[in-house]
Amino acid sequence: MPDDSKKNKPKTTSEAGIPGAFEGETVSRRRFMTGTAHGAGAIAATAFTLPALAIGLAPVFEKHEQPWQAVGPPEDFDDKSYIPKTITTTAGVGEVGKSTVYVRKRNAQIDTEKRDEYNAYIAISSRCMHLGCPVRYVAASEMFICPCHGGAYDKEGKVTAGPPPRPLDRFYTRVKDGLVEIGPRFSVNSEMRRFSPRDPGQPIDGIGQYIYPARPTVRKLPGT
Ligand code: FES
Repeated sequence: MPDDSKKNKPKTTSEAGIPGAFEGETVSRRRFMTGTAHGAGAIAATAFTLPALAIGLAPVFEKHEQPWQAVGPPEDFDDKSYIPKTITTTAGVGEVGKSTVYVRKRNAQIDTEKRDEYNAYIAISSRCMHLGCPVRYVAASEMFICPCHGGAYDKEGKVTAGPPPRPLDRFYTRVKDGLVEIGPRFSVNSEMRRFSPRDPGQPIDGIGQYIYPARPTVRKLPGT
């Protein structure tokens, strides 16, 4: 049997018997106002959400190409203690883009990271791997200490106390034109295996390396 319900459906509001309807009006004013309010709401929500999303996601796609930087001649460093040096980790942002790096010569008695052409000198980041506070090397106790939440690291940068989830990050090093140079940053797990740089608070032991993958813009670094 043919369905007459569509054929019989009123085309105008006056045919539908809506009170106050105008002749030839096809959409009721109530429905029109509801549609307009929903449309305006959607535009307002987009105007708030899109910039917030862009700000939140931008760092993930940011490209950081850290150039090699000379920090002094090889004879400035020994294999017993660290010398603090300042390098630029983010160019063009002034002091905020600078960071302290602790540098010393490699010492077979201390260092367990696999030896290669990039670690004749050890350069350790001063950024705590818990929440990023600056750590300080205390020569008397041969430890890196974080003032924020009691994080402590041994001379190699491995966690010995507190909440940091992984050892201190490191930098590639090399000797070029008679100077020790500091290169890109990388992260290490508790076995001192190299990984592309991760952010503080991201463990990379076991399943952590998959839960916290490297940023998509980070290029593959030697040994990672
Ligand atoms: S930021 Fe270093 S222990 Fe929390």
